[in-house]
Amino acid sequence: MRVLFIGDIVGKPGREAIKRFLKPLQKEFDVDVTIANAENAAAGKGLTKEVSEELYRQGIQFLTMGNHVWDQREIMNFIDSDPKLIRPANYPVGAPGQGYGVIRANGFKIGVLNLSGRIFLPPLEDPFSGAIRWINQLKQETSVILVDFHAEATSEKSALGWFLDGKVSALVGTHTHIQTADARLLHQGTAYITDVGMTGPKDSVLGVKKEIIINRFLTQLPAKFEIAGGPLQINAVIIDIDEKSGKAHKIEAIQRFSED
Ligand SMILES: [Fe+2]
Ligand SMILES: [Fe+2]
Repeated sequence: MRVLFIGDIVGKPGREAIKRFLKPLQKEFDVDVTIANAENAAAGKGLTKEVSEELYRQGIQFLTMGNHVWDQREIMNFIDSDPKLIRPANYPVGAPGQGYGVIRANGFKIGVLNLSGRIFLPPLEDPFSGAIRWINQLKQETSVILVDFHAEATSEKSALGWFLDGKVSALVGTHTHIQTADARLLHQGTAYITDVGMTGPKDSVLGVKKEIIINRFLTQLPAKFEIAGGPLQINAVIIDIDEKSGKAHKIEAIQRFSED
């Protein structure tokens, strides 16, 4: 089976990039299942019901989140009733929503686990020991499992990748919005990339208007973030997985850009 995983969709430009690039990519690569990180999909902060429905209509079958999950408070009212939407599993007990789920699409079944790192991010439950527990739950349903590890530190992502090698089909990193050049298969058949990257405005600082961020570094004053305009980009990975063994046999990082 072939899985397309799309890096953090940022605001309206991110959704425009999905409109422009998703269908052609799904066709070009003959994609079976499409998953995206949507923690910044609504104006760069969180996710609304309307935006989630727009993304599903465009052909994304499952959404993962990250540290921005609660930025749009309305998500607390719909996350429990949407089985296609998960947030990091290591939030404290009592947080709304689920940390893992199963996609059934085109005759395939794939388990997805969302985890958050703990370096430069809220001090959540240990994602390492938690991962083993949640993977064992998912294994009762399917041997194909993808983990979205939403984390800042490359060391934390690399370590969890090796820790889960052979236990999951793929571990993809999100959150830093810059695609890393290390997509590879680990020794026991887990596809890995430190960060898938960002889907949104190309000429920006992680999606935000560059002038605002430059000025913030120059002055150290607080400033309101605005999503940048201009050319669009989509960052993603294509992962080929043997649906019987759950082992990956290929991962390829992809980027597409618009002219204007
Ligand atoms: Fe993000
Ligand atoms: Fe994030």
